[in-house]
This record gives sequence, C-alpha cells and structure tokens, in this order.
Amino acid sequence: MPTRTALITGITGQDGSYLAEFLLGKGYEVHGIVRRSSQIASTTRIDHLYQDPHESNRKLYLHHGDITDAGFMVNLIRDVQPQEIYNLAAQSHVRVSFDLPDYTANVTGLGTIRLLEAVRASGIDTRLYQAGSSELFGTIEPPQDENTPFHPRSPYGVAKAFAHWSTVNYRESYDLFAVNGIAFNHESPRRGETFVTRKITRAVARIHAGLEQFVYLGNVDAVRDWGYAPEYVTAFWHMLQADEPRDYILATGVPATVRDFAEVAFRHVGLDWREHVQIDKRYERPAEVPALTGDPSRIKAGLGWEATTKWDDLARLMVDADIASLQAGNDLRSTP
Ligand code: NAP
Ligand code: GDD
Repeated sequence: MPTRTALITGITGQDGSYLAEFLLGKGYEVHGIVRRSSQIASTTRIDHLYQDPHESNRKLYLHHGDITDAGFMVNLIRDVQPQEIYNLAAQSHVRVSFDLPDYTANVTGLGTIRLLEAVRASGIDTRLYQAGSSELFGTIEPPQDENTPFHPRSPYGVAKAFAHWSTVNYRESYDLFAVNGIAFNHESPRRGETFVTRKITRAVARIHAGLEQFVYLGNVDAVRDWGYAPEYVTAFWHMLQADEPRDYILATGVPATVRDFAEVAFRHVGLDWREHVQIDKRYERPAEVPALTGDPSRIKAGLGWEATTKWDDLARLMVDADIASLQAGNDLRSTP
C-alpha cells in the first residue's frame, strides 16, 4: 500500500504531538507546521520524533510557517499534497482570548478559512479535520450533543463557532470532505501548564515535595468533561476514515468540577486540597462557561470510538507524571 501523507497544523501542541506519534506509528508521512521562534523550545513535545533532513526513509517533515499567512498555506498544501489535513492550530486558551480577541479571531477563526481556501485553491483531493470545541455550547445546559445550539461565551468560543460553520459551509458548497470534531476538554502530562488540570497537577507535585504551599485558582465550581488526549487524537483519525463526512461530539460523558479534580489530585499524594487551594479572582473570566458534559453516543454508534480514561484516573496519572518530571530535574514553577 502506498504511504499516506498527512499535514498537521498545531503539531507542536498537546494534541498535535500525540497525533503525530499515532500517524507515524501507522506508517504515514507526516508534515507539520512549526512557528518561527527565537528559541527552539516550542518543539519540546515533538523533539523525540525529530528526524534530521539528511536521514534516509524520513517520515516526519517540519515546515516553518503560520496559519495567519494565506500564501504560505496555499504553497504548502500544493507542495505536500496531503491526503489528510488536521487543523489543530489555534490560540487555544479561553482566558487569554479575552485579552487578545483580535489575535484569537485571526488565528483560531480566520486561520480555518485560510486553510479551507488553500485546499480549494490547490484543487487537491484531501480530507480535513477541524478541531472544534465544546466551548461552542457556552451556557446551554448539559448534556450537550451534536444537535445542541451554540452560545459561545468568549472570543475563543466565537472564533471556534466561525471555524465550525466555515467547515460545514465548505463541505456543503464544494463537496469537500471536511468535518468538525466538537471535542470536550482533554488533558495529559503534555497539557499546557496554564490550563486548570495541569496547573493543579504541577502544583501538587511541588507542594508534595515541600517546594510551595498553595495553588491559586478561580472558579472551582465549573463543571468539565475531562478525557485523555492520546485517546482523542485517534477519534480525529477515525473521523477522516469514515464513509461519510460527519461532525461528532468527542467526550467521556462524565462530569466533574474543578474542585473534584483538585480533591482527587491532592488525595493521590495524601494531601487535603482544602489546605492548599486558595481562590484568586484574577483567574475568573468575564463570562464563564459553567457546565460542559458531552453525549458521545453518536461517535460510539457510528465509528466505534469511545473514551476509556475517566477524569479521576486522568488526575492521578497527571500527578504521577509531574512528580516524575520534578524528580528528573524540571522545576515546574507556576507560570503566568
Ligand atoms: P495547544 O496545546 O494550545 O496547541 C496549539 C497549537 O497551535 C500549537 O502547536 C501552537 O504552536 C499552534 N499555533 C498557535 N498559533 C498558531 C499560528 N498562528 N500558526 C500556526 N500554528 C499556531 O492546543 P491543544 O490542546 O493541542 O488543542 C489542539 C486544538 O484542539 C486547538 O485548536 C484547540 O483549540 C482545540 N481543542 C482543544 C481541546 C482540549 O481540551 N485540548 C478541546 C477542544 C478543542 P506553538 O506550540 O508554537 O504555540
Ligand atoms: N485555566 C484556569 N486557571 N482555569 C481555571 C482556574 C485557573 O486558575 N481556576 C478555575 N478554572 C476554571 C475555568 O474558569 C474553567 O471553567 C475551567 O477551570 C477549565 O479551564 P481551562 O482548563 O482553562 O479550560 P477551558 O475549559 O477554559 O478550555 C479548554 O477546553 C476547551 C474545550 O471545552 C481549552 O483546551 C480550550 O482550547 C478547549 O476548546
């Protein structure tokens, strides 16, 4: 069978790194976009996959670029001719999007239409996965499924709504195999340090080691449906292998509060969360998304995909990973 070629935008992120591993494991030739930076620190999640350009039988190709540059996107897609495209690039932090609304709209919203246009302009036969988000649902009460209306509550959510409907529109207008995965929160030891789960598990590791005493959180009543990122990237792939292009909810279906997550994470090392969590209003948002819990029935019935790791096991595995990381010499100090 000829080698299949995939392009991943956002390959240096949490999901991109797991997806690259998964596709390389399946024998794909994988191309990824890496943003130019003054340091190479942004590639740490994929450094173990790196292949020198002089190696023979190379399977991973990294291209300096940016989803805000339309010309670059057209040229790259024309040159690489991928059979599958995974659009994971985004300014993905909800709280940050309130401070950078214009930038978030440009990257997270318009980035998607630039990619869709680049596919159309290149005229290649390809399939496209768009990384959608449960943030689309905002204040609509759980459980949320594929028929739940949208009410985004942040510049990030609004940008993802634009990206969602752009993907649907290109599918309907140009017969493109383009699909939205409406993913609920998914985490891992590679999760960005300022998302709440990783912020908690890093703090648990440092507090357990006696390096600090408190972690400062915002709304601990928020409910989320937390799954395990390496499982979610396999759903992205299944969606592109389907007979028909269809949008799906990706979720565990199990709710938990931020407080629940903190309680389990601290208890895992024999600590009481109430003695180490302090509330700091600076981490609250101008508009909160109070409760997200997905109904993943459609993808289970249609593609046989199911999230197996639930939030409490996830909390424990992330704590174990951060303790191991601290013991390996990383300092895990809190970040802004
Ligand atoms: P992440 O860790 O924040 O990764 C985002 C990726 O996008 C990084 O590789 C980042 O590059 C890249 N990127 C940002 N701006 C870019 C630009 N202008 N041009 C090119 N690349 C750019 O996010 P994630 O958790 O892996 O999530 C992947 C996707 O799924 C995102 O679209 C996110 O919004 C969406 N999503 C995530 C979740 C979740 O719970 N994880 C749930 C629903 C939807 P740098 O490494 O250089 O910053
Ligand atoms: N980040 C953060 N930091 N969140 C906090 C904190 C804190 O100190 N304290 C409480 N929270 C609450 C937030 O208010 C939110 O209700 C919840 O914890 C989860 O916050 P995040 O981990 O930042 O994730 P998110 O739900 O806002 O967004 C993530 O999931 C979306 C899917 O629902 C991101 O990965 C998005 O990119 C993704 O689309």
